[in-house]
Amino acid sequence: MRSIAIMNQKGGVGKTTTAVNVSAALADAGAKVCVIDLDPQAHATLHFGEDTKSEGKSVYDVLTGKMKLADVRIAVTENLHLIPAHLDMVGAELELASAVGRELILRDELAEDNVHYDYLIIDCPPSLGLFTLNALTAVKEVFVPLQPHYFSLHGFMRLLETLEAVSRRLNKNLKLSGILLTMYDETRLASEVAQDIERFLQQREQLPKVCSGANIFETRIRRNIRLAEAPSHGVPIFGYDAHSNGAEDYRRLAAEIMR
Ligand SMILES: Nc1ncnc2c1ncn2[C@@H]1O[C@H](COP(=O)(O)OP(=O)(O)OP(=O)(O)O)[C@@H](O)[C@H]1O
Ligand SMILES: [Mg+2]
Repeated sequence: MRSIAIMNQKGGVGKTTTAVNVSAALADAGAKVCVIDLDPQAHATLHFGEDTKSEGKSVYDVLTGKMKLADVRIAVTENLHLIPAHLDMVGAELELASAVGRELILRDELAEDNVHYDYLIIDCPPSLGLFTLNALTAVKEVFVPLQPHYFSLHGFMRLLETLEAVSRRLNKNLKLSGILLTMYDETRLASEVAQDIERFLQQREQLPKVCSGANIFETRIRRNIRLAEAPSHGVPIFGYDAHSNGAEDYRRLAAEIMR
């Protein structure tokens, strides 16, 4: 199984859009996929149109030891499962703060769960708090969606420090494997930022070990209004406009991930 956290502490960079649509594309290609919505905003759960089916049960009940993953799991399709979030999770991070081994709860619950998946994809909230830490200890890979702005690189350094600390203290298998350029327009600024990141990743020896194997995905996700419209219809892009640029880009990204 490949286990992937989609993270960036910066908000609105395309984490949820990527988690939902890449998972749907992988499942469409025949893979068995589980998505975990670890964001109290519950956007991935809403995007799948599963907010009512969850009956208020969420990954938070698992993190607090009240339920098992199997109790909250929803089958979106036969080979695409969702561990939903719920808006009540806001504030839950504080409640968890005093639990022993609080960063490792999700990892341990996943180890106990006996459903086999080809891909586990975790949608992280825009913070480096306890939910994100639970994701980073539970996975082997991190994908970072990045909007190519001048300031993107500043936040990126902070993110690398967090990954490095987690890999040193909590999860030595953790690797940043891919950087995904999202909401990409063919502008000079976008291609300069892309080049900056590429140059940065090429100084392999000086980089923290956690990102020594990282690359920018060849696939770039173009800005496409259909991707922004799909969530309100409660379906991934393929159920809303299968011929849009957004659908094409996420299909191509899934193929690149499977290679
Ligand atoms: N390629 C794209 N083209 C156009 N709009 C996009 C694209 N990707 C994402 N969006 C829109 O941009 C907004 C932010 O995207 P998204 O919710 O995926 O980001 P996020 O990183 O998960 O945000 P948060 O940090 O709040 O969780 C959403 O309204 C989404 O529909
Ligand atoms: Mg999100």
